[in-house]
Amino acid sequence: MDVTEEVASEPAGCSASTRVAIDWDILAAHAVTEADIRAFLPPYLERTPESRATIFAGLGIAAFQRALRLGIFLAMRPVVSKSASLDQAEVDRAYHGCAASYDWKHHFITRGMDTQWRREAGWFTLATSREIESGATLRVLDLSTGTGLTAEAIADVLSRANVPAQVVGLDYNESMLAIARRREGMRGNVNVVFVRGDACRLALPSGDENLEDPMHESFNAVTHVFGTGCIARAESVFDSVLRVLRPGGRYFLVDVHRPLAWQAGEFPFGWRWWRLPRLESETFEQTTVPLVLKRLWAWRDTTFDFYRLRLATHRDAIGRIWGFRTLHFDVQSVRWWLGIPILPVGRISVEKVEIGEAEASKREVIRQASGL
Ligand SMILES: C[S@@+](CC[C@H](N)C(=O)[O-])C[C@H]1O[C@@H](n2cnc3c(N)ncnc32)[C@H](O)[C@@H]1O
Repeated sequence: MDVTEEVASEPAGCSASTRVAIDWDILAAHAVTEADIRAFLPPYLERTPESRATIFAGLGIAAFQRALRLGIFLAMRPVVSKSASLDQAEVDRAYHGCAASYDWKHHFITRGMDTQWRREAGWFTLATSREIESGATLRVLDLSTGTGLTAEAIADVLSRANVPAQVVGLDYNESMLAIARRREGMRGNVNVVFVRGDACRLALPSGDENLEDPMHESFNAVTHVFGTGCIARAESVFDSVLRVLRPGGRYFLVDVHRPLAWQAGEFPFGWRWWRLPRLESETFEQTTVPLVLKRLWAWRDTTFDFYRLRLATHRDAIGRIWGFRTLHFDVQSVRWWLGIPILPVGRISVEKVEIGEAEASKREVIRQASGL
């Protein structure tokens, strides 16, 4: 394969706001070592290396950005306000407006790749079912379920494997849920239901000791396919997930991850395969985040969520502390509308495990030192 590297290192064009700035003094004061931090935050989250692209390449990229932005404006007519504050009312308005066309638009924008990511959520729940007692009902929560496409894909995989299960799709938006409810019902021995709820506030104590919380530690698996980006404080979602998962339960998250130059995608054009890391990176910074994510989808850059989630901890009512252990994490540059790889997708699966006081305070120090 003939692969042309436009630049060898990570390109410029990544603003400081997309980089993690670590306060090493805080770490030193708490005797947290570099090895400790690297287990959670790889160095590529901090670096802003020099670009070695030519002027000619720079002009080409600028022309590409302009054409792309114009095309998006003409074809998609961004609906969300410029502020993209992710205020719940604004997000709700955006999804209310796009509920009816959500399914086909999502298939169109992702060139159908979304169906593959949803099926992966299904295969993830199937793998989780192997970890529970044989014959027991697998309980799955699909967060930010939207129109229920992912819940349906999960039910499809589980029912074909003959796994008894209940899949609960949860979303905040009534218009999205109205469409999801058409997918409600039994598929084989898998029951699919949809409920309205806030992913940031699941299983919070009601204050009434006599009230049993139906969500507390009641799920074996939680899935989240393109769901954290419209939530301003993702850490509250991860806290929720730790509360609703049973010990040993698993969480699967798929969302946007910013481009990594050394992972730039390859695409065929003419007689050769190309890699254009600077094009990927600048498109992400200049067009994808401000125009597509913020104004079309009421979304933010979710890159840090993949790392933030591994620092989340939760102390339960009897004093046990829970956190996540990573089972799998990958970032893949995928080809969207134009067939050019301009927006990578990350996938992570983690397991809820009990951690000690020392591990919990180390994670908290790393969280503070990195601002995540
Ligand atoms: C991109 S859409 C749906 C993604 C869906 N998982 C899929 O696979 O198609 C994001 C969804 O998150 C929902 N949402 C936004 N904030 C939420 C919150 N705090 N709690 C639950 N759902 C929320 C929106 O209503 C919207 O339906």
